[in-house]
Amino acid sequence: MLSEIERRELEDAVKSYPDKRGAAIDALLTIQRRRGWISDDSLLEIAKFLEVTAEDLDSVATFYNLVFRKPVGRHVAFMCDSISCWIKGCEQVQEQIKKLYDVDLGQTTSDGRLTVLPIACLGQCERAPAVMIDQDVYGDVTPEKIEQIVEKYK
Ligand code: FES
Repeated sequence: MLSEIERRELEDAVKSYPDKRGAAIDALLTIQRRRGWISDDSLLEIAKFLEVTAEDLDSVATFYNLVFRKPVGRHVAFMCDSISCWIKGCEQVQEQIKKLYDVDLGQTTSDGRLTVLPIACLGQCERAPAVMIDQDVYGDVTPEKIEQIVEKYK
């Protein structure tokens, strides 16, 4: 059930939309900030609030990479795997993350610290390869630099 504060935050999130159904992504991200991810129960509660079907909302949630439909770690590293980053060596950066933290794409470290997910172009192609951790975007990432970057997120 939505808490009082969640309900207030949802009201805030939808108020700039003429139709609250248009606020689906904002609403999902609002609840995700509170709960860490969007469970089936959360999805149903948000759908009810937005007056949409759970199926429709789920298709938005599934399409939008920044909405998590499974639990994630305390931090999420999004590894761009689009063409510029691929050409500039994103795979080597991913391999280094795997070596350092024993985590593959789509997985979370055993201590719950870091989830690593693929993402399409982060709009930083001129600084490829690019990685986004939580809200922070890093460009010109190399296997040598990635440890220093990840170590900022405990
Ligand atoms: S292809 Fe990676 S940032 Fe554009």
